[in-house]
Formats: sequence, structure tokens, C-alpha cells
Amino acid sequence: MDQPASSSPRISTCTKQDYDRIIKDLPEFWDGRDTRRLHHPMLIHEFGNSAFVIRDGQAIAAYLFGLISQTAPVGYVHAVAVRPDMRRKRLGHQLLDHFAALARGRSCTHIKAITTPSNAGSIAFHKSLGMQGEPNSAGVPVVADYAGHNEPRVVFWKAI
Ligand SMILES: CC(C)(COP(=O)(O)OP(=O)(O)OC[C@H]1O[C@@H](n2cnc3c(N)ncnc32)[C@H](O)[C@@H]1OP(=O)(O)O)[C@@H](O)C(=O)NCCC(=O)NCCS
Repeated sequence: MDQPASSSPRISTCTKQDYDRIIKDLPEFWDGRDTRRLHHPMLIHEFGNSAFVIRDGQAIAAYLFGLISQTAPVGYVHAVAVRPDMRRKRLGHQLLDHFAALARGRSCTHIKAITTPSNAGSIAFHKSLGMQGEPNSAGVPVVADYAGHNEPRVVFWKAI
């Protein structure tokens, strides 16, 4: 089901065909990084009503895979990516805003996202959304061992 975003372009629910296109173009979306394990098909088969795309003709310009947490009133942004030639046009912001509205509608009080400490662009993007660490954390909110031994992650939260 297509849903109008607050401003153009349109944000649509991700179809299987969209997902297949995203998987085919993963290296481009992620600047060559191997992120296949981040893109489990459950994201559309089981969690497809919180998976969104912005299409550009037959191509996908940007997408967001979100999850509504089962343990806390939190909308978790699992993955967001924008095709390199479409970046810095606010598509990422629009997808986050759209997901935050969905999460609010499901009684969530916060959205959450994680990223790797080396991903400076992603950190700047999440900060630009007004996301920050848990209350009282200062600077970039790095959590040691978040994803396992020696696997720190930057953990961002925002009240919605
Ligand atoms: C991170 C990403 C999703 C941002 O998408 P985007 O549509 O370009 O972001 P927006 O246009 O909404 O960005 C708005 C603001 O975020 C900040 N920002 C976004 N990308 C940035 C970058 N690479 N470097 C510095 N600041 C950045 C800026 O403040 C920007 O505002 P400005 O353009 O007026 O300076 C995109 O760069 C991307 O797909 N990266 C590869 C995948 C990835 O790392 N995803 C995030 C981890 S899940």
C-alpha cells in the first residue's frame, strides 16, 4: 500500500520486487561494504509493514528497514540507505520521519538506531536527526561490546 509522505517524493511500502532490487544493488547502496547479513528476508516477509522505499522510476533511490521492538516501546531503525547519487537531498530524513510516525502510531516513545564507530557519514546523519545517546551520555555514544566482544556500536536514541 502506497502512503503519501509529508512532502514529495512518495514513500511506499517495500515490495518483494523492491527488496530483490535492493539486494542486487547492495554494494552500491553501502559504498562497497558487504552488508548482506544485515538484509535478512524476514525484514519484508515478517516485518514488511515497517519496510519503506522511495522509488526513482524503476530503480530504488532509498530504503529503510525498521522493526517495532517486542521488549520496549521503541521503533528500531535496522537499516537505512540512499543511493550515492541521491544523497544529501533529505531522503534519509524523510524515511526516518515516516518510520517515526509509524512507531508513534504503535505507541512507541522512542526510535533507536545503531551504527559502527567508523561510519562518520552515518553518525553525522543520525546526529542531524537530533538523535543522541541515552540520557547523561556525552559526545558520540559508543557502547563497548554492544554487538559482541570488541564489537562496539554507536547507539542513538530519540524521543518521538
Ligand atoms: C547515511 C545516509 C543514509 C544519509 O542519507 P541522506 O539521504 O544522504 O541524508 P539526508 O540528506 O537526509 O541528510 C541530512 C543531513 O545529515 C547529515 N549527513 C548526511 N550524510 C552525511 C555525510 N556523509 N557526512 C556528513 N553529514 C552527513 C548532514 O547534516 C545532512 O544535512 P546537509 O545535507 O544539509 O548538510 C546515506 O549517506 C547512506 O546511505 N549511507 C550508506 C549506508 C549507511 O551507512 N547507512 C546508515 C547506517 S544504518
